[in-house]
Amino acid sequence: MKINIVFLLIAVASATSFAQTTAGLKDVYSSKFKFGNILNGTTANSQAMKNIVLREFNSITPENELKPDATIVASGSTDDNVKVQLNNGAKAILQFCQDNKIPVRGHTLVWHSQTPEWFFRTGFTSSGAVVSTAVMDKRMESYIKNMFALIKSSYPNLNLYAYDVVNEASSESGGPRTAGNGDGKSMWVQVYKDNSFIEKAFTYARKYAPATTKLFYNDYNEYITAKRNYIANSIIKPLKDKGLLDGMGMQSHLDVRTGSAPYPTAADYGAAITTYKNLGVEIHVSELDATIDNGNTSYFSAQATYYKDIMNQILTKGGSAVTAVVIWGIQDDQSWRKDRKPLIFDASGNKKAAYNELVKLIPESDWGKPGSGASSSSVAVSSSSSKASSSSVAASSSSKASSSSVAASSSSRASSSSVAASSSSRASSSSVAISSSSSSFESSSSSEEALSSSSSEEEDITPILNSMLSTQGSQLITYYSLKGEPLGSAKPQKAGVYIIKQGYSVKKIVVR
Ligand code: XIL
Repeated sequence: MKINIVFLLIAVASATSFAQTTAGLKDVYSSKFKFGNILNGTTANSQAMKNIVLREFNSITPENELKPDATIVASGSTDDNVKVQLNNGAKAILQFCQDNKIPVRGHTLVWHSQTPEWFFRTGFTSSGAVVSTAVMDKRMESYIKNMFALIKSSYPNLNLYAYDVVNEASSESGGPRTAGNGDGKSMWVQVYKDNSFIEKAFTYARKYAPATTKLFYNDYNEYITAKRNYIANSIIKPLKDKGLLDGMGMQSHLDVRTGSAPYPTAADYGAAITTYKNLGVEIHVSELDATIDNGNTSYFSAQATYYKDIMNQILTKGGSAVTAVVIWGIQDDQSWRKDRKPLIFDASGNKKAAYNELVKLIPESDWGKPGSGASSSSVAVSSSSSKASSSSVAASSSSKASSSSVAASSSSRASSSSVAASSSSRASSSSVAISSSSSSFESSSSSEEALSSSSSEEEDITPILNSMLSTQGSQLITYYSLKGEPLGSAKPQKAGVYIIKQGYSVKKIVVR
């Protein structure tokens, strides 16, 4: 573990020293949050695009390749076992990210759009009848389970650090979408009659996602007051309180609208950040782009000012709650809104004025520095040119994992999410954090030792630990055996060594 710390220091130092020539946005913003972009089946096979990603970004979202229409296979699917696949585009993206240790945001599992209508009909056929909620529950659970399992088995070393579990479930005025198919209608609402499928989706995702994968609700126009309040109060808060959700994905498809105020104004955008932040969840700006009227390049400077204003809101209102900012497209000509040139690189891969404004916001003395937020440790490490990441640190420490530590981590999930914790993918990723901390358990001679940031001289595992424990909303005390069996909230009577967990705190306790 000492080696890792030394390596971290070298990595950070070197990233700073050659910041001028090699720094990308991931380095400039390393003290704040991950800075990401997207790849698709085309760009993931372009060396020029991959070079930009390697230079600039430390988070990748597959643009379309993990959506239901790309992953669900009708043939061979049953209600209890939905067949899933990764197409060539998905494979190219995930392989690239695994090889280069670039953290990935999964996108997306439950969505009204880009989801085949037959997924909601008997026999997985377009002519079938709409299925019951009981059948849809089974299909949804199986789909989510099989997706996480397929990704894990295909890319065991991938750092799948976040996933958009449910996308765009709110209407513009706040509330469920209209039932139906196409034109913004939702077959999910058709089956469930309301938005009750959202909690089910998060329950299944919590059950099957790796422990280190943060679970997000993701939506657009998330700054419009009625929609914002519905998302905050009726989706994010209840799910967060139940330990099922880690964060809010603010898509942030914005418009500069030269000649009139940009939409939204930076102040309105900042107010939305404050609303979500006040709920105590992480925030990802998950799909940032800002269009200009008619794609007229004379508006590039207005666009740059808007990017700067928006980023200022993210920095000042979001603070440490914002753990990733992802731009939705590398070059203007690749954008889903390419007619209006909304990105920070032009069609030739040149940095636009907007890019330069983003760089100017962070003093150079901060470039390459690790942050203090939940995801900052991996940001700091991956800012080095050698691309070490938290997953490589994890791999090196996993051999030390003790059975008690692994068990303890999976039980923390079970206790907080009210679903059984028994997936092998979870165990493998959980072992990361606790294994590095288990040495302090073992070496402790005192009767009680906190596994907090101050307890480890060798490596600060607090961010990883927090990510594992983020489902634990309540301050209830739970005792566990060293094997991780939950023993309830009363102090064990029998002499022995136990694990005690309260909120985010995990300690060893010796009962004499
Ligand atoms: C877009 C893609 O960029 C396009 O290529 C595709 O044709 C449609 O979807 N909100 C989302 C993203 O959550 O998945 C959408 O991506 C953009 C809006």
